[in-house]
Order: sequence, then structure tokens, then C-alpha cells
Amino acid sequence: MVESKVTRSTACVFLLASGALLAQHEYTATDIENGGRQYVNNCVYCHGPEGDQIAGISLFRGRFKRVVSDDDIVQVIRNGVPGTGMPAQNMNDANARTIVAYLRSAAAVPASTLTGGNAARGKSLFEGKGACTTCHRVINSGSRTGPDLSDIGMQRRVMELEKSLLDPASGVLPQHRFVQVTPKSGPAITGRLLNQDTFTLQLLDAQERLRTFVIADLREYSVLKNSRMPSYKDKFSRQELADLVSYLASLKGPNKP
Ligand code: HEC
Ligand code: HEC
Repeated sequence: MVESKVTRSTACVFLLASGALLAQHEYTATDIENGGRQYVNNCVYCHGPEGDQIAGISLFRGRFKRVVSDDDIVQVIRNGVPGTGMPAQNMNDANARTIVAYLRSAAAVPASTLTGGNAARGKSLFEGKGACTTCHRVINSGSRTGPDLSDIGMQRRVMELEKSLLDPASGVLPQHRFVQVTPKSGPAITGRLLNQDTFTLQLLDAQERLRTFVIADLREYSVLKNSRMPSYKDKFSRQELADLVSYLASLKGPNKP
């Protein structure tokens, strides 16, 4: 009882603090997105995708050992905590602040409702009934037409994994965009966009072939808005969805147990 009360009041203070922070520095959605990327690149290995991997600290819920203000967090990021496992990050003030913006915004993401899943059952669903490997690759097996999910458990929070399954169209990441190109000679080709510069673009087609196009030679070129991934909302039971999420969350890349 007491425990839950404390948590709730912390959450309140926290929302106020985050409001003040956003107003003060006028962070944009892009800042928060950049902060999220930096968090995944620099912090997730130790602090985990939910920010709670180190005992006594919950970065997304504002539970710290000593820092109080946002400026304190920036200072900890840049200087580390001497004598502990928290290393100084080689990062300028502006970048450290985008991480703070991300930590603050992360608190607003509701917890996943798909709890109590079993990762081993999820793996069987992934490879069997779900046929997820027809588009996705995990470590060394599966298709490359969709994103590689080998370390998706490090890259995404549980809630984000849940959303990918239930409502894939809600959050197609820029790096996962599909494009359709129509060369001046020949039919349209759809594939996952890999690279693009002023003159050329590269995509991975449905047969997993890398194809390069000269933009000047295209009749038409468009980014597809809709997700290529079907929603699994009605294809699985809640328990099966929870199992899949649990499996995805367990995927931490080849070098992480
Ligand atoms: C090599 C592992 C490691 C990395 C990488 C790391 N941390 Fe930490 N961090 C720790 C440890 C361990 C502590 C706990 C220090 C202590 O005992 O006070 C900590 C503590 C913290 C604290 C809390 C200080 C407090 O008062 O409780 C913050 C904030 C923090 N880290 C943010 C970050 C951010 C943001 C990043 C990425 C830019 C990051 N850390 C990267 C290991 C790491
Ligand atoms: C027809 C191909 C296809 C199938 C089948 C498919 N996916 Fe996807 N999936 C995609 C594509 C493409 C994306 C990239 C983003 C988008 O288009 O939504 C994606 C995105 C994802 C993401 C988010 C990745 C990220 O970086 O955030 C997860 C998680 C995921 N899929 C899991 C699954 C699981 C689990 C299954 C099986 C139940 C499955 N997918 C079946 C094509 C597919």
C-alpha cells in the first residue's frame, strides 16, 4: 500500500517536472526521437530498455540515488559518477539534454498490458503459426525483407513491441520505410529503402536482392505510408500475443545472454 502511494506521488511530481522541462527548453518531437536513439546507443546496454536494469534506479520513472534536477542528470551523463560503474559519456550538453527529454517523455508511455508471456512458447509461435520468419531474421535464420529482430529486445521497450504487433501502422520507423519506384523502362518495384542520396537510391526487393536506381532514370518514386506488416490483433489470443512479446523482449543480440 505505502509502496504504491509513494510511486504515485513520484509520478505526479515527475509529470510536472517534465512539463516544465519541455516548456523551458522547447524540445521538439525530433529532439525526443534523437534522445531515444542516443539512449539506445549509449545507455541501454547498462540501464536496459525500460531504464530499470540497475538496482535502485529507474531512469524513466524518475527514481535516482542522488540526482534531483534535469541539470544534475546532464552533469551525470557528461561526467559519470566517479567510483561507480557509471562512466562519463563523451557527449556535448545539447545531446545530453535530448536524452533527458527522452527520459522524461518515456514516463508517459503506459505499461504493456500483455504480461505473463512465455518466451519459449513465443519462439515457437514466431517460427511456426506466426510465420514471422517469412519477413524477419533473428541471428542467422529468416528473411531479410523486414527488419532484423536479433536485438529488438534491446532496441525497443515492451510497449513498443506490443504496438508493433497490434497496430503496426502506428509507428513505422523512418529506417523501415518501403518505397515504390517505377523506372522509365519497366514495371514498378517495391522494396525496403536502404540508402538514398541526391542521385541514387538503393532498396532490398521482395527476393532480398539489393537494387540500385539512378533517380534521374525513374518515372516515379514514392514512399509507402502503410506498414507492410499485418496486424496480429485478431490472429492470436491475448496469451499468444503475450508469449510473442516476451520472446521479442528476450532478443538481446548475439553478444548478450
Ligand atoms: C557501463 C554501464 C553504464 C552506462 C553505459 C551508462 N550508465 Fe548510467 N549508471 C550506471 C551505473 C552502474 C549507475 C549507478 C551509479 C551509482 O551506484 O550511483 C548509473 C547511474 C546513472 C544515473 C543515476 C544517478 C543517480 O543519482 O541515481 C543516471 C541519471 C544515469 N546513470 C544515466 C545514464 C545515461 C543517460 C546513460 C547514457 C548516456 C548512462 N547512464 C550510461 C552504469 C552505466
Ligand atoms: C509480410 C511481412 C511481415 C510479417 C509476416 C511480419 N512482419 Fe514484422 N515487420 C515487417 C516490416 C516491413 C516491418 C517494418 C515496419 C513496418 O512496416 O511496420 C516490421 C516491423 C516489426 C517490428 C518492429 C521492428 C522495430 O524496429 O521496431 C516487430 C517487433 C515485428 N515486426 C515483429 C513481427 C512478428 C512477431 C511477426 C510474426 C507474428 C511479424 N513481425 C510478421 C514485416 C513483417
